[in-house]
Amino acid sequence: VIGKDLNKAKSLLEAGKLVAIPTETVYGLAANALDSEAVLGIFKAKNRPQFDPLIVHVSPRLLDLYRFELPKGAQKLIESFWPGPLTVLIPRPNFIPEIVTSGLPLVGLRMPRHPLTLELLEMLDFPIAAPSANPFMYVSPTTAKHVENQLGKQVDYILDGGPADIGLESTIVSFENPLQPCIVRLGGLEVSELEAIVGPMKMEISNNSNPKAPGQLDKHYATKVRLRLSNTFNETFIMNQGAGTAIIGMQIPSSVKAEYRFELSASGDLHEAARNLFSYLREADEKGVAEIVAVAVPDKGIGKAINDRLRRAAG
Ligand code: TXA
Ligand code: MG
Repeated sequence: VIGKDLNKAKSLLEAGKLVAIPTETVYGLAANALDSEAVLGIFKAKNRPQFDPLIVHVSPRLLDLYRFELPKGAQKLIESFWPGPLTVLIPRPNFIPEIVTSGLPLVGLRMPRHPLTLELLEMLDFPIAAPSANPFMYVSPTTAKHVENQLGKQVDYILDGGPADIGLESTIVSFENPLQPCIVRLGGLEVSELEAIVGPMKMEISNNSNPKAPGQLDKHYATKVRLRLSNTFNETFIMNQGAGTAIIGMQIPSSVKAEYRFELSASGDLHEAARNLFSYLREADEKGVAEIVAVAVPDKGIGKAINDRLRRAAG
């Protein structure tokens, strides 16, 4: 069921159940982070392997209450960007069960910016663990309806906070080396915004052979239909598509032939493109087309994160 009942969401979470929550990035599938059984339920519902750790979500009160110890650099970043699309990987305190971090020494911590979810967190006495609310490997959900379509049977309640503001997952910064923060996932917060606060940062974007963030596989965010990615519109396979294809890109030239056109942003606005991306990928998938063809967006700002998702969707 979908609704806006915070008391219901609260009592379900207190009873160890699963509740989908809106955030400014994507919808999450939440459970009490301190309850291993409840957390196990998340892995089962998503069909997610247990080597792929979950992000723990807090509100200002919960951050204080549990006295998470943050390296200096992390403290600086969260002062600037929380609540917001930033996850920091910091040493796991003992009260966070190992299942949450897949046995890794670090835990991902984030304070989401969505007012409904912040209000819910302020009502709880425990932080919540929440991965994106999609089946493992599929595109992340940016509306309550997306969650219902795929996980409606597995979740006990879906808190509806409207379409996600940003539309891409949080940027993840690892403090494995507290003195040398390192970006391990591109996301809703731009690299330049982070570097403005802590100076030049290392980047170790995860892939299969370098799994700094274990869930970040080469093939991820994948549609059911095959997706081909091109760097430009200027390719014969893009210009000459026939019936049964969908094209996804920004400012698609009118000369491109495709049965379905998903224009991420007509005006070339990368934030608008980010907001539309996952929704359009799902829609294209639902059309039952033979192939989705995507064209990379300008590789700057949040465009870098969009291109990262497109590359993984292409596998
Ligand atoms: O925006 C977001 O971050 C959304 C919303 C719901 O908060 N959540 C999200 O979670 O994208 P998820 O589980 O789909 O992706 C989190 C990824 C994991 O796949 C993993 O790669 C990395 O974060 N991660 C989480 N905890 C980690 C840890 N302790 N060590 C290394 N990587 C970690
Ligand atoms: Mg995910």
